[in-house]
Amino acid sequence: MANTFLTINSTRIAARNGETVLAAAEAAGLRLPKDDPALCQHDTPCESCRIRLDHGAVEGGEPIGHTVLACRARVSGEATLSTDPVPREMKSAAEVVAWRTLSAEIVELVLRVEKPVPYLPGQHVTLAFGKSAPRRFTPTLSLDGLRELDTLHFHIRRREGGLFGTKPEERFRPGARVKLAGPYGNSHLRQGDGRLVLVSSGTGFSAIWSIAVAARLGQPHRPVHLIASAHDPRDLYMRPALEWLARQGVENVTLTASGAHPLPPVRHGRATAHLPALMPSDTVHVAGHPGLVRAVMLAAAKAGATAYGVPHAPAQEEEGVVERIARYLSGSKKAPAPVPAPQPLPANVRQIRPV
Ligand code: FES
Repeated sequence: MANTFLTINSTRIAARNGETVLAAAEAAGLRLPKDDPALCQHDTPCESCRIRLDHGAVEGGEPIGHTVLACRARVSGEATLSTDPVPREMKSAAEVVAWRTLSAEIVELVLRVEKPVPYLPGQHVTLAFGKSAPRRFTPTLSLDGLRELDTLHFHIRRREGGLFGTKPEERFRPGARVKLAGPYGNSHLRQGDGRLVLVSSGTGFSAIWSIAVAARLGQPHRPVHLIASAHDPRDLYMRPALEWLARQGVENVTLTASGAHPLPPVRHGRATAHLPALMPSDTVHVAGHPGLVRAVMLAAAKAGATAYGVPHAPAQEEEGVVERIARYLSGSKKAPAPVPAPQPLPANVRQIRPV
């Protein structure tokens, strides 16, 4: 029985104290951004349902700034919340068109979809083969900035226990069928005027690249500051994308690697150590390791900036328990990555002295 009220996007709905904001909204027939419920992991929130808390209070919900997670925030009295509209979720069949090597560890998957998926830059979808459990991936454009309407690109880390395994190009040849659902999440690019600060680690660059291209083409008045990081500098695979950004006038690009000491202009350390001073007028998008996403979102909230996050679950969390035990028993170890030849980086990557 209802014992309080919520106002969500100007609609007043009945709610029960103790239920989640998401449950109250869905019971009232409202559609809020969220993830595939089977995929939002207990200990790694996917951030898909983050919503603004405009007035009143809720209990929990992992608050950051004036936002909470609707699937975890519990109703505790009257409150007013708001969120931006997102496209309706859909399902589509797709087929593998091509695999391209981006680095020793990361490959690009190109899929052709039967029905165009109306995702906003920064939203994610789920992919599944046959009876496999779906996994979350962020569609993006090819690294030269081009996109065909029926084609989606994904950046995939070779990974034992991952959906695609360590040799995806051998397991899923062109023509292999894929089930796709989405789009999910609300960490997408919005219209605005302030600077965009775009931060990625690892394959989180897929979301950031999609946002960067849409921003340069659709909102060229906004300054862009981009930081791309990886543990291994050899996994900074985005050289063609940086050249495209340089041609579009994006001058503030920083590459960082937290593992073995990288050569300039790649800086040493985590992306958080190279954030610019944030301002309330900034909008920050961060995608990659959950720890990085949370740290950057907290830093943005502290500065009064708006922030959106796309956490990518680290390798161990993406493996199922059975897969982990099987890997442990087989004693399998990762093969060392071959060393690709060093390549010069475009001039918009800021040159610095070796550290
Ligand atoms: S749906 Fe709320 S954190 Fe994933």
